[in-house]
Amino acid sequence: MPTYDALKLPAHVETVLLTGAGGFVGREVTKLMLELYPKLRIITTDVVEPPRFTDDPRLRVVKADLGKPEALKELFDGEKIGGVIALHGIMSGGAEADFELGWAVNVDSHIALIKAAHAHSDAVWKPQGKKMVYVFISSLAVYGGPKARPEDHVIPADTPIIPGSSYGVQKTIGEFYAFDYGRKGYLDTRSLRLPTVAIRTGAPSSAASSFISGLIREPLQGIESVCPIASGPEDPILDDMKVYLSRAKTVFRNIVWGLCMPEENFKYGIGSRSVNIPGITVTTRQIIDALVQHAGPEALKLVSYKKDPAVIAICETWAGSYDNTAEQKQGFEVDDAKTGFANAVGDFKAELQASK
Ligand SMILES: NC(=O)c1ccc[n+]([C@@H]2O[C@H](COP(=O)([O-])OP(=O)(O)OC[C@H]3O[C@@H](n4cnc5c(N)ncnc54)[C@H](O)[C@@H]3O)[C@@H](O)[C@H]2O)c1
Repeated sequence: MPTYDALKLPAHVETVLLTGAGGFVGREVTKLMLELYPKLRIITTDVVEPPRFTDDPRLRVVKADLGKPEALKELFDGEKIGGVIALHGIMSGGAEADFELGWAVNVDSHIALIKAAHAHSDAVWKPQGKKMVYVFISSLAVYGGPKARPEDHVIPADTPIIPGSSYGVQKTIGEFYAFDYGRKGYLDTRSLRLPTVAIRTGAPSSAASSFISGLIREPLQGIESVCPIASGPEDPILDDMKVYLSRAKTVFRNIVWGLCMPEENFKYGIGSRSVNIPGITVTTRQIIDALVQHAGPEALKLVSYKKDPAVIAICETWAGSYDNTAEQKQGFEVDDAKTGFANAVGDFKAELQASK
């Protein structure tokens, strides 16, 4: 089995289309692929202007609203796209707050994208007996229901998909679309369910999990951060609310591995084309403790507490841990349970330092 470190792209993947390139994950995955693959052509797109990291023509940047059919035509026409990483979307809190927008972007635009990818793959790759590799970025928010609460350890084969939010439902639909295109042999599809990615750089997102990174990111920059799940530092919810996350660097490499992974590796899973990207479990208390370790007790003055029932309601539908034996066999990497979060904070501090 090819190893994770190989990160070797299939030979026909010489051009990759990456959507959501103006967002946090899209930006970083683009940077990583530019570093890893000096010959790869990358087309990045987003409704906001995606960053142009290089003048090298192998990076094509397209500002486009993927809700508009003409945008898809512009992206695919005249290209030989061997791989897609479909990252664009409206995050959990945003999709809950704006129902119509969540469905339009997280479902309608993704259906249009996969249809366009299928047509492109048929035209470009089918005559050569090949198909496009299509990575749909999903979320562990597809789980929910009585067996996927913060106190639960999810065994994928025993845990039904019962999303607890519109976002989770929308991601589930995206996964099923991807699954069926894979089952039919139209595209080589994979759905990667990301855990919370820590530490998120830049501005806070509309994700309900946004506070997890915010409790570190804002105080380290001298900015106040509000913890929306507790009424004060003694609130027991800080110990009870387990969150499942992964160091950002690990997630970015796992996404690239999702594009590289041989299709046969799905045999280690439970028969679907969906992968639970491995993470580690931390409590909100451990996150606050990590802040103190890195920035001293003074930093606590920048943390305030104000319960937000809407955030708590979404967080309560997320499981605290997942069995990831299958994903590790498939070649995905997992952070060390003891050092993973500290490493994530260290990465963020190093980035802050570098940007000064
Ligand atoms: N960051 C996390 O912790 C996390 C966890 C689980 C899953 N995910 C998934 O990973 C993906 C990337 O997450 P992120 O944190 O980078 O989110 P983000 O909000 O930073 O980026 C999403 C991007 O999608 C773009 N977008 C929205 N509507 C669009 C449209 N109509 N046309 C084109 N682009 C559009 C936005 O402009 C934004 O730049 C998302 O699909 C998200 O659901 C992220």
